[in-house]
Amino acid sequence: MINMTSDKKITIAYIEELIAKLAQEKNLTDEEFVTLIATPYPEETNKILAIAADKVRRQHYGDKVYVRGLIEFTNYCKNNCYYCGIRAGNCKAQRYRLTKEEILACCKEGYKLGFRTFVLQGGEDPYYTDERVCDLVATIREAFPDCAITLSIGEKSREAYAAYKQAGADRYLLRHETADELHYGKLHPESMSLANRKRCLKDLKELGYQVGAGFMVGSPYQTIKNLVCDIRFLQELQPDMIGIGPFIHHKDTPFNAEADGSLSLSLRMLSILRLCFPYALLPSTTALGTIAPNGRELGLKAGGNVVMPNLSPTSVRKHYQLYDNKICTGEESAQCKSCLELRVKAAGYTIVSDRGDVRK
Ligand code: 5AD
Ligand code: FES
Repeated sequence: MINMTSDKKITIAYIEELIAKLAQEKNLTDEEFVTLIATPYPEETNKILAIAADKVRRQHYGDKVYVRGLIEFTNYCKNNCYYCGIRAGNCKAQRYRLTKEEILACCKEGYKLGFRTFVLQGGEDPYYTDERVCDLVATIREAFPDCAITLSIGEKSREAYAAYKQAGADRYLLRHETADELHYGKLHPESMSLANRKRCLKDLKELGYQVGAGFMVGSPYQTIKNLVCDIRFLQELQPDMIGIGPFIHHKDTPFNAEADGSLSLSLRMLSILRLCFPYALLPSTTALGTIAPNGRELGLKAGGNVVMPNLSPTSVRKHYQLYDNKICTGEESAQCKSCLELRVKAAGYTIVSDRGDVRK
Protein backbone atom coordinates (compact mmCIF):
# COMPACT_ATOMS: atom_id res chain seq x y z
CA MET A 1 0.00 0.00 0.00
CA ILE A 2 1.25 3.42 -0.86
CA ASN A 3 0.76 5.67 2.10
CA MET A 4 3.21 8.44 2.53
CA THR A 5 2.61 11.66 4.37
CA SER A 6 4.66 14.58 3.14
CA ASP A 7 6.65 14.95 6.37
CA LYS A 8 8.05 11.42 6.11
CA LYS A 9 11.42 10.88 4.52
CA ILE A 10 11.02 9.82 0.90
CA THR A 11 12.94 6.62 0.24
CA ILE A 12 14.06 5.23 -3.10
CA ALA A 13 11.85 2.22 -2.34
CA TYR A 14 8.88 4.56 -2.23
CA ILE A 15 9.89 6.17 -5.54
CA GLU A 16 10.12 2.69 -7.03
CA GLU A 17 6.64 1.95 -5.74
CA LEU A 18 5.33 5.11 -7.38
CA ILE A 19 6.89 4.18 -10.72
CA ALA A 20 5.37 0.68 -10.54
CA LYS A 21 1.99 2.21 -9.79
CA LEU A 22 2.33 4.69 -12.66
CA ALA A 23 3.29 1.90 -15.09
CA GLN A 24 0.30 -0.14 -13.94
CA GLU A 25 -2.37 2.52 -13.70
CA LYS A 26 -0.99 5.20 -16.09
CA ASN A 27 -1.80 7.69 -13.40
CA LEU A 28 -0.90 8.99 -9.94
CA THR A 29 -2.41 11.48 -7.54
CA ASP A 30 -1.21 15.08 -7.75
CA GLU A 31 0.85 14.60 -4.60
CA GLU A 32 2.47 11.45 -5.95
CA PHE A 33 3.32 13.14 -9.25
CA VAL A 34 4.94 16.01 -7.33
CA THR A 35 7.02 13.55 -5.29
CA LEU A 36 8.13 11.66 -8.39
CA ILE A 37 9.00 14.78 -10.39
CA ALA A 38 10.83 16.41 -7.47
CA THR A 39 12.55 13.16 -6.46
CA PRO A 40 15.48 13.51 -4.05
CA TYR A 41 17.26 10.80 -6.11
CA PRO A 42 17.14 12.18 -9.65
CA GLU A 43 19.74 9.80 -11.11
CA GLU A 44 18.28 6.58 -9.72
CA THR A 45 14.73 7.71 -10.39
CA ASN A 46 15.53 8.48 -14.02
CA LYS A 47 17.17 5.08 -14.42
CA ILE A 48 14.18 3.17 -13.05
CA LEU A 49 11.75 5.37 -14.98
CA ALA A 50 13.61 4.87 -18.26
CA ILE A 51 13.52 1.09 -17.88
CA ALA A 52 9.77 1.16 -17.24
CA ALA A 53 9.16 3.64 -20.09
CA ASP A 54 11.25 1.63 -22.54
CA LYS A 55 9.31 -1.52 -21.70
CA VAL A 56 6.01 0.23 -22.43
CA ARG A 57 7.24 1.82 -25.68
CA ARG A 58 8.45 -1.58 -26.89
CA GLN A 59 5.05 -3.12 -26.13
CA HIS A 60 3.38 -0.55 -28.38
CA TYR A 61 5.98 0.37 -30.98
CA GLY A 62 8.75 -2.22 -30.67
CA ASP A 63 12.17 -0.70 -31.31
CA LYS A 64 10.82 1.58 -34.04
CA VAL A 65 11.72 5.25 -34.20
CA TYR A 66 9.78 7.40 -36.64
CA VAL A 67 11.37 10.20 -38.64
CA ARG A 68 9.67 13.46 -39.55
CA GLY A 69 11.29 15.83 -42.00
CA LEU A 70 11.11 19.31 -40.51
CA ILE A 71 10.82 22.24 -42.90
CA GLU A 72 11.09 25.60 -41.13
CA PHE A 73 9.54 27.63 -43.89
CA THR A 74 9.18 31.09 -42.34
CA ASN A 75 10.62 32.82 -39.30
CA TYR A 76 8.33 35.86 -39.57
CA CYS A 77 6.06 35.91 -36.55
CA LYS A 78 3.46 38.37 -35.35
CA ASN A 79 3.62 37.08 -31.78
CA ASN A 80 5.88 38.14 -28.97
CA CYS A 81 6.31 35.13 -26.69
CA TYR A 82 8.97 36.10 -24.16
CA TYR A 83 10.98 32.89 -24.58
CA CYS A 84 11.24 32.69 -28.35
CA GLY A 85 14.09 33.94 -30.52
CA ILE A 86 11.88 34.63 -33.54
CA ARG A 87 9.39 36.78 -31.58
CA ALA A 88 8.24 39.88 -33.47
CA GLY A 89 10.09 42.13 -31.01
CA ASN A 90 13.49 40.67 -31.85
CA CYS A 91 14.69 43.14 -34.44
CA LYS A 92 18.05 41.37 -34.60
CA ALA A 93 16.52 38.26 -36.14
CA GLN A 94 17.17 38.09 -39.86
CA ARG A 95 13.81 37.26 -41.37
CA TYR A 96 13.23 34.81 -44.22
CA ARG A 97 10.40 32.95 -45.80
CA LEU A 98 10.65 30.12 -48.30
CA THR A 99 8.59 30.21 -51.47
CA LYS A 100 6.23 27.42 -52.40
CA GLU A 101 8.81 26.20 -54.92
CA GLU A 102 11.57 26.12 -52.31
CA ILE A 103 9.33 24.21 -49.90
CA LEU A 104 8.45 21.70 -52.61
CA ALA A 105 12.15 21.25 -53.34
CA CYS A 106 12.69 20.41 -49.64
CA CYS A 107 9.91 17.82 -49.80
CA LYS A 108 11.40 16.31 -52.94
CA GLU A 109 14.80 16.04 -51.30
CA GLY A 110 13.16 14.58 -48.19
CA TYR A 111 11.20 12.05 -50.20
CA LYS A 112 14.42 10.90 -51.88
CA LEU A 113 15.98 10.48 -48.45
CA GLY A 114 13.06 8.28 -47.39
CA PHE A 115 10.88 10.67 -45.39
CA ARG A 116 7.14 10.04 -45.52
CA THR A 117 6.12 12.80 -43.14
CA PHE A 118 6.75 16.48 -43.71
CA VAL A 119 6.35 18.93 -40.88
CA LEU A 120 5.82 22.47 -42.10
CA GLN A 121 6.72 24.70 -39.21
CA GLY A 122 6.79 28.46 -39.07
CA GLY A 123 6.04 31.56 -37.08
CA GLU A 124 2.60 33.13 -37.37
CA ASP A 125 3.48 34.85 -40.63
CA PRO A 126 0.77 37.16 -42.07
CA TYR A 127 2.12 36.58 -45.60
CA TYR A 128 1.09 32.95 -45.32
CA THR A 129 -2.64 33.59 -45.42
CA ASP A 130 -5.07 30.71 -45.11
CA GLU A 131 -5.42 30.73 -48.86
CA ARG A 132 -1.67 30.43 -49.41
CA VAL A 133 -1.36 27.70 -46.77
CA CYS A 134 -4.18 25.74 -48.43
CA ASP A 135 -2.57 26.11 -51.83
CA LEU A 136 0.75 24.92 -50.41
CA VAL A 137 -0.79 21.94 -48.64
CA ALA A 138 -2.85 20.94 -51.69
CA THR A 139 0.23 21.06 -53.91
CA ILE A 140 2.25 18.87 -51.53
CA ARG A 141 -0.70 16.50 -51.11
CA GLU A 142 -0.92 16.04 -54.87
CA ALA A 143 2.81 15.61 -55.38
CA PHE A 144 3.30 13.22 -52.42
CA PRO A 145 0.07 11.27 -51.97
CA ASP A 146 1.71 8.66 -49.75
CA CYS A 147 3.10 11.18 -47.26
CA ALA A 148 1.64 12.64 -44.10
CA ILE A 149 1.50 16.43 -43.97
CA THR A 150 1.91 18.02 -40.56
CA LEU A 151 1.36 21.71 -39.96
CA SER A 152 2.85 23.68 -37.09
CA ILE A 153 1.93 27.28 -37.76
CA GLY A 154 0.24 28.41 -34.59
CA GLU A 155 -3.16 29.67 -33.54
CA LYS A 156 -5.77 29.99 -36.31
CA SER A 157 -9.54 30.06 -36.57
CA ARG A 158 -11.52 26.85 -36.64
CA GLU A 159 -12.49 27.66 -40.23
CA ALA A 160 -8.83 27.94 -41.20
CA TYR A 161 -8.01 24.58 -39.56
CA ALA A 162 -10.94 23.02 -41.41
CA ALA A 163 -9.73 24.44 -44.72
CA TYR A 164 -6.16 23.15 -44.21
CA LYS A 165 -7.59 19.72 -43.44
CA GLN A 166 -9.73 19.86 -46.55
CA ALA A 167 -6.63 20.76 -48.56
CA GLY A 168 -4.89 17.61 -47.32
CA ALA A 169 -3.22 18.24 -43.95
CA ASP A 170 -3.25 15.24 -41.59
CA ARG A 171 -1.61 16.40 -38.40
CA TYR A 172 -1.08 19.58 -36.42
CA LEU A 173 1.48 20.44 -33.78
CA LEU A 174 0.64 23.20 -31.33
CA ARG A 175 2.34 23.04 -27.97
CA HIS A 176 0.18 24.40 -25.19
CA GLU A 177 3.46 25.60 -23.51
CA THR A 178 1.92 25.49 -20.01
CA ALA A 179 -1.56 24.53 -18.85
CA ASP A 180 -1.48 26.90 -15.90
CA GLU A 181 -3.18 30.24 -16.48
CA LEU A 182 -0.82 32.25 -14.23
CA HIS A 183 2.28 30.64 -15.69
CA TYR A 184 0.97 31.17 -19.23
CA GLY A 185 0.71 34.88 -18.44
CA LYS A 186 4.36 34.98 -17.40
CA LEU A 187 5.54 33.49 -20.68
CA HIS A 188 3.31 35.43 -23.07
CA PRO A 189 2.14 39.00 -23.60
CA GLU A 190 -1.43 39.94 -22.77
CA SER A 191 -2.53 39.62 -26.39
CA MET A 192 -2.22 35.82 -26.06
CA SER A 193 -4.32 33.55 -23.89
CA LEU A 194 -4.28 29.98 -22.69
CA ALA A 195 -8.02 29.85 -23.40
CA ASN A 196 -7.45 30.46 -27.11
CA ARG A 197 -4.61 27.94 -27.21
CA LYS A 198 -6.94 25.35 -25.69
CA ARG A 199 -9.69 26.32 -28.11
CA CYS A 200 -7.33 25.69 -31.02
CA LEU A 201 -6.34 22.26 -29.73
CA LYS A 202 -9.97 21.32 -29.17
CA ASP A 203 -10.95 22.46 -32.67
CA LEU A 204 -8.07 20.53 -34.21
CA LYS A 205 -9.11 17.36 -32.40
CA GLU A 206 -12.74 17.75 -33.38
CA LEU A 207 -11.76 18.29 -37.00
CA GLY A 208 -10.04 14.91 -37.03
CA TYR A 209 -6.39 15.93 -37.06
CA GLN A 210 -3.77 13.83 -35.31
CA VAL A 211 -2.86 16.45 -32.75
CA GLY A 212 0.36 17.24 -30.94
CA ALA A 213 0.55 19.36 -27.79
CA GLY A 214 3.45 19.86 -25.41
CA PHE A 215 5.48 22.18 -23.24
CA MET A 216 8.94 23.34 -22.35
CA VAL A 217 10.63 21.85 -19.31
CA GLY A 218 12.22 24.32 -16.92
CA SER A 219 10.75 27.41 -18.54
CA PRO A 220 11.02 30.55 -16.39
CA TYR A 221 8.68 30.57 -13.35
CA GLN A 222 7.63 26.96 -13.93
CA THR A 223 6.83 25.04 -10.74
CA ILE A 224 6.51 21.30 -10.19
CA LYS A 225 2.77 21.88 -9.76
CA ASN A 226 2.67 23.48 -13.21
CA LEU A 227 4.12 20.26 -14.63
CA VAL A 228 1.41 18.23 -12.90
CA CYS A 229 -1.10 20.65 -14.41
CA ASP A 230 0.42 19.92 -17.85
CA ILE A 231 -0.04 16.19 -17.29
CA ARG A 232 -3.67 16.73 -16.24
CA PHE A 233 -4.35 18.86 -19.31
CA LEU A 234 -2.81 16.24 -21.59
CA GLN A 235 -4.90 13.53 -19.94
CA GLU A 236 -7.97 15.54 -20.83
CA LEU A 237 -6.88 16.31 -24.38
CA GLN A 238 -5.50 12.84 -25.18
CA PRO A 239 -3.18 14.09 -27.92
CA ASP A 240 -1.51 11.75 -30.40
CA MET A 241 1.84 13.50 -30.14
CA ILE A 242 3.46 15.23 -27.17
CA GLY A 243 6.49 17.41 -27.82
CA ILE A 244 8.60 18.45 -24.85
CA GLY A 245 12.11 19.79 -24.53
CA PRO A 246 14.12 21.92 -22.15
CA PHE A 247 13.72 25.68 -22.21
CA ILE A 248 16.94 27.22 -23.56
CA HIS A 249 17.49 30.98 -23.28
CA HIS A 250 17.94 33.15 -26.36
CA LYS A 251 20.21 36.14 -26.05
CA ASP A 252 17.84 38.61 -27.75
CA THR A 253 14.69 37.88 -25.74
CA PRO A 254 13.36 39.14 -22.39
CA PHE A 255 14.41 35.76 -20.93
CA ASN A 256 18.06 36.16 -21.96
CA ALA A 257 19.29 35.88 -18.37
CA GLU A 258 17.04 32.99 -17.34
CA ALA A 259 18.42 29.56 -16.48
CA ASP A 260 18.02 26.76 -19.01
CA GLY A 261 15.89 23.71 -18.28
CA SER A 262 17.82 20.64 -17.13
CA LEU A 263 18.53 17.43 -19.02
CA SER A 264 17.64 15.37 -15.98
CA LEU A 265 14.16 16.86 -15.49
CA SER A 266 13.47 16.73 -19.25
CA LEU A 267 14.29 13.02 -19.37
CA ARG A 268 12.24 12.36 -16.25
CA MET A 269 9.22 14.09 -17.76
CA LEU A 270 9.65 12.18 -21.03
CA SER A 271 9.55 8.85 -19.17
CA ILE A 272 6.58 9.92 -17.07
CA LEU A 273 4.71 10.91 -20.24
CA ARG A 274 5.48 7.56 -21.87
CA LEU A 275 4.01 5.79 -18.85
CA CYS A 276 0.91 8.02 -18.84
CA PHE A 277 0.44 7.82 -22.63
CA PRO A 278 1.76 4.45 -23.84
CA TYR A 279 0.50 4.99 -27.40
CA ALA A 280 1.84 8.54 -27.83
CA LEU A 281 4.36 9.66 -30.40
CA LEU A 282 7.02 11.40 -28.32
CA PRO A 283 9.85 13.16 -30.11
CA SER A 284 13.35 13.24 -28.74
CA THR A 285 13.74 16.90 -29.57
CA THR A 286 16.41 19.14 -31.03
CA ALA A 287 16.37 21.15 -27.79
CA LEU A 288 17.33 17.98 -25.92
CA GLY A 289 20.19 17.47 -28.37
CA THR A 290 21.22 21.07 -27.85
CA ILE A 291 21.63 20.95 -24.05
CA ALA A 292 23.61 17.69 -24.18
CA PRO A 293 25.60 16.13 -27.01
CA ASN A 294 23.87 12.76 -26.49
CA GLY A 295 20.57 14.29 -25.40
CA ARG A 296 18.51 12.79 -28.19
CA GLU A 297 19.90 9.28 -27.60
CA LEU A 298 19.04 9.62 -23.93
CA GLY A 299 15.59 10.88 -24.91
CA LEU A 300 14.95 7.75 -26.97
CA LYS A 301 16.08 5.54 -24.09
CA ALA A 302 13.77 7.47 -21.77
CA GLY A 303 10.71 6.68 -23.89
CA GLY A 304 10.91 8.88 -27.00
CA ASN A 305 10.05 7.28 -30.34
CA VAL A 306 10.26 10.11 -32.89
CA VAL A 307 13.14 12.15 -34.30
CA MET A 308 12.79 15.20 -36.50
CA PRO A 309 15.77 15.83 -38.73
CA ASN A 310 15.95 19.22 -40.35
CA LEU A 311 15.05 19.44 -44.05
CA SER A 312 15.25 23.22 -44.36
CA PRO A 313 17.75 24.64 -46.85
CA THR A 314 21.12 25.11 -45.13
CA SER A 315 21.14 28.79 -46.11
CA VAL A 316 18.22 29.65 -43.79
CA ARG A 317 18.77 27.26 -40.90
CA LYS A 318 20.76 29.56 -38.70
CA HIS A 319 17.93 32.08 -38.86
CA TYR A 320 15.32 29.76 -37.37
CA GLN A 321 16.88 30.33 -33.99
CA LEU A 322 14.25 29.76 -31.31
CA TYR A 323 17.04 29.51 -28.71
CA ASP A 324 20.82 29.93 -28.56
CA ASN A 325 23.23 27.31 -29.91
CA LYS A 326 20.60 25.27 -31.75
CA ILE A 327 22.22 22.22 -33.36
CA CYS A 328 22.05 21.14 -37.01
CA THR A 329 22.29 24.62 -38.46
CA GLY A 330 25.29 23.88 -40.67
CA GLU A 331 24.39 20.44 -41.96
CA GLU A 332 22.76 19.34 -45.18
CA SER A 333 19.49 17.37 -44.97
CA ALA A 334 21.25 14.14 -45.94
CA GLN A 335 23.83 14.72 -43.21
CA CYS A 336 21.15 15.23 -40.57
CA LYS A 337 19.40 12.10 -41.71
CA SER A 338 22.46 9.87 -41.55
CA CYS A 339 23.63 11.49 -38.32
CA LEU A 340 20.30 10.69 -36.71
CA GLU A 341 20.25 7.20 -38.15
CA LEU A 342 23.57 6.48 -36.46
CA ARG A 343 22.36 7.97 -33.19
CA VAL A 344 19.15 5.97 -33.22
CA LYS A 345 21.09 2.79 -33.92
CA ALA A 346 23.62 3.55 -31.20
CA ALA A 347 20.76 3.99 -28.75
CA GLY A 348 19.48 0.51 -29.67
CA TYR A 349 16.52 1.36 -31.91
CA THR A 350 15.65 1.18 -35.61
CA ILE A 351 14.63 4.07 -37.82
CA VAL A 352 11.62 3.37 -39.97
CA SER A 353 10.52 5.54 -42.83
CA ASP A 354 6.78 4.86 -43.04
CA ARG A 355 4.23 7.56 -42.20
CA GLY A 356 4.22 6.44 -38.59
CA ASP A 357 0.62 7.10 -37.66
CA VAL A 358 -0.36 6.88 -34.03
CA ARG A 359 -1.24 3.37 -32.76
CA LYS A 360 -4.21 3.52 -30.46
N1 5AD B 1 13.70 27.08 -25.68
C1 5AD B 1 13.15 25.88 -25.90
N2 5AD B 1 12.08 25.69 -26.68
C2 5AD B 1 11.54 26.76 -27.26
N3 5AD B 1 10.48 26.90 -28.07
C3 5AD B 1 10.36 28.19 -28.40
N4 5AD B 1 11.31 28.92 -27.82
C4 5AD B 1 12.07 28.06 -27.09
C5 5AD B 1 13.19 28.20 -26.25
N5 5AD B 1 13.74 29.39 -26.01
C6 5AD B 1 9.59 25.78 -28.38
C7 5AD B 1 8.15 26.14 -28.02
C8 5AD B 1 7.45 26.09 -29.36
C9 5AD B 1 8.32 25.16 -30.16
C10 5AD B 1 8.19 25.32 -31.64
O1 5AD B 1 9.62 25.50 -29.75
O2 5AD B 1 7.63 25.15 -27.13
O3 5AD B 1 6.13 25.62 -29.28
FE1 FES C 1 21.41 17.25 -37.78
FE2 FES C 1 22.94 15.42 -36.34
S1 FES C 1 20.83 15.49 -36.73
S2 FES C 1 23.57 17.02 -37.68
